[in-house]
Amino acid sequence: MAEKIKPNIFYVGAKDPDRRLFDELIPLPYGTTYNAYLIKGSDKTALIDTVDPAKRDVLFKHLDQLGVDRIDYVISNHAEQDHSGSIPHVLEKYPEAKVVTNEKCKGMLMDLLHIEEEKFLVVEDGSSLSLGDKTLEFMIAPWVHWPETMFTYLKQDKILFTCDYLGSHYSFDDLYVTDQQLIYENAKRYYAEIMMPFANLAKKHLDKVQQLELDIIAPSHGQIYNHYDFILEAYRDWTSDKVKNEVVLAYVSMHGSTKEMVDHFKGELENRGITVKTFNLTGADIGELAMATVDAATIALATPTVLAGPHPAAVYAAYLIKALRPKTRYLALFGSYGWGGKTKEIIADLVSTLKAEILEPVIIKGLPREEDFNLLDNLAAEIKTKHDQLD
Ligand code: FEO
Repeated sequence: MAEKIKPNIFYVGAKDPDRRLFDELIPLPYGTTYNAYLIKGSDKTALIDTVDPAKRDVLFKHLDQLGVDRIDYVISNHAEQDHSGSIPHVLEKYPEAKVVTNEKCKGMLMDLLHIEEEKFLVVEDGSSLSLGDKTLEFMIAPWVHWPETMFTYLKQDKILFTCDYLGSHYSFDDLYVTDQQLIYENAKRYYAEIMMPFANLAKKHLDKVQQLELDIIAPSHGQIYNHYDFILEAYRDWTSDKVKNEVVLAYVSMHGSTKEMVDHFKGELENRGITVKTFNLTGADIGELAMATVDAATIALATPTVLAGPHPAAVYAAYLIKALRPKTRYLALFGSYGWGGKTKEIIADLVSTLKAEILEPVIIKGLPREEDFNLLDNLAAEIKTKHDQLD
């Protein structure tokens, strides 16, 4: 069912509770939704974003339920196809509609969906568009999480449509957030997966959002917020420089030697009052791993040496961490080898673009001996000292 949000403002998006992977990469434990919104002004009707093309029938069913026979504007806040992919179908059904977006997004929509140039109405930061008794204002908000992203503010009703920003992959029954802790967790997972690499911009946009008079924040995934302080505070925290006294310990072990090191190291850290979150990379949910890296002061990677280098699962994790660019301050590496290799050099090269300090790796031969455990103790002590000095 289409759902009324305010007079003449409706949720017309689609739920996808069974989807389990996004971008063929990101696990979706709670499925997702593609939120689209219909705004009927006294003169014009606007659709804010569309839905993944696989779910376009749901969008059209909602529009039909509301008796929509004309759409004047399709606002595209973001060119990624889970929101834009149904625009060509909307233009087919409502041929009078113009696609309203910024210049960069226009170019991307022309490339990604082959929408013709004359279908666009280009707006800039601060532009407004009258629907009669309702006015849309556009805020260019790049890099959350693509370069063309923007927000749309419905002035009279104080609703901000933020597309991916502040959203969560959560297929809901209730349109509004009912369980803040649950949405906090899902929003954090989502932030880690796509927003964290651009944390500085995500932080900057918060300032703009907080200057607005707001009743509702309506993202394009997950539930909408009529009490939004908690999500703004969460973003403020995640995008800050603050880190927690935590170690994310991601590991893989082939014959148990590296695992013995992991168990010992974990115990040494915990004995020193450090929280440790462990992930066995052979079966870990990478969304959980990404989420854990949002706050942790240190990330430790433990890998055996195989075929003269780190285990491919550890390479994948290192690459992922590099891409997500967490604010972690320290990186630790340890593991065991049988006959040699370049594990240390390969991992160090993979994470070299991160700002974090790389601590002296502990790479040992075979099953760990007492002197090897002592090296891990020293590493744990060094981490403890560094965490104690955190501001
Ligand atoms: Fe939900 Fe970046 O698309």
